[in-house]
Amino acid sequence: MPEARDNVQKLLQFAGDMQVIGQGGTGREAVDLARKLQPDIILMDVSMPEMDGITATQLITTQFPSVAVIMSSVQSDTETLRRSLQAGARDYLFKPYGLDELTGSIRTVYQAVQVSRAQLSATTSATTTHLGTPAEQGRAKVISVFSPKGGIGRTTLAANLAVVTKLATDKRVLLVDGNLAFGDIGVVLNLPAVKTVVDLASNAGQLDADFVSDVLATHSSGVRVLLAAPSPQDAEGITSDQLRAIIGQVVMMFDYVFIDTRPSFDETQLALLDLSDTVLLTMTME
Ligand SMILES: Nc1ncnc2c1ncn2[C@@H]1O[C@H](COP(=O)(O)OP(=O)(O)O)[C@@H](O)[C@H]1O
Ligand SMILES: [Mg+2]
Repeated sequence: MPEARDNVQKLLQFAGDMQVIGQGGTGREAVDLARKLQPDIILMDVSMPEMDGITATQLITTQFPSVAVIMSSVQSDTETLRRSLQAGARDYLFKPYGLDELTGSIRTVYQAVQVSRAQLSATTSATTTHLGTPAEQGRAKVISVFSPKGGIGRTTLAANLAVVTKLATDKRVLLVDGNLAFGDIGVVLNLPAVKTVVDLASNAGQLDADFVSDVLATHSSGVRVLLAAPSPQDAEGITSDQLRAIIGQVVMMFDYVFIDTRPSFDETQLALLDLSDTVLLTMTME
């Protein structure tokens, strides 16, 4: 309602550090204004004519990720709250709310947005600077994360690099658990080991894109994952030649291949390092 919006606008004049730059009465108007004005924050109502606030939030947060939405509603049911958050709202205010509650929410969300913007631009530029574009047309850039010592954050780094690269570039990204016998990528990314590197190794002579794709797991980020053997015994028979065949196939299917390794210089680890364009050596300050 226009009066309600004018009241909020008047309220916010008392807070010196924010400015209302637009008002809309429908979800459709909210989306249009988000595009036109690119505000830092939109205060959205769940119930609106034409297009409801949840649908508008969904559209805005996917099309304009730099715009943050705070949802407000008289509805205090968890279902509406949950749907709002799923649509990308950063906070939820139950009506009626006071000035302190409103400005507190706006400041908190604004700060959170500044932090995630800074992180996003840092990771994006790091990714483009250090990883560059794929080495050759049609062949993935292979980056392995190695250290001569265990428990040093290789798995964490490899998994995060893969996910961040996927989110920042939307290229085809594969994460390989090269810790064949004791891999924990599946645990870290919450992916059950239905099919694994064992399935590829035992068919290393006849790999094609369809077969490989069928074995790969898919993380919610869109990163495809080649999981390690379900048990150490299963990994025993895997040879470095089989790994070479597997990597040889996946570099034709992806833009980036990240490999988590284990601290060893056995045949299979050496093959993985040998096949990498870049080896990231992780270390601690010791
Ligand atoms: N940058 C970091 N800061 C603090 N803890 C970390 C960091 N990276 C990883 N860890 C933690 O250290 C432990 C070992 O990490 P992990 O990635 O499994 O190492 P690795 O694969 O080298 O054995 C995990 O508990 C992980 O959560
Ligand atoms: Mg590890």
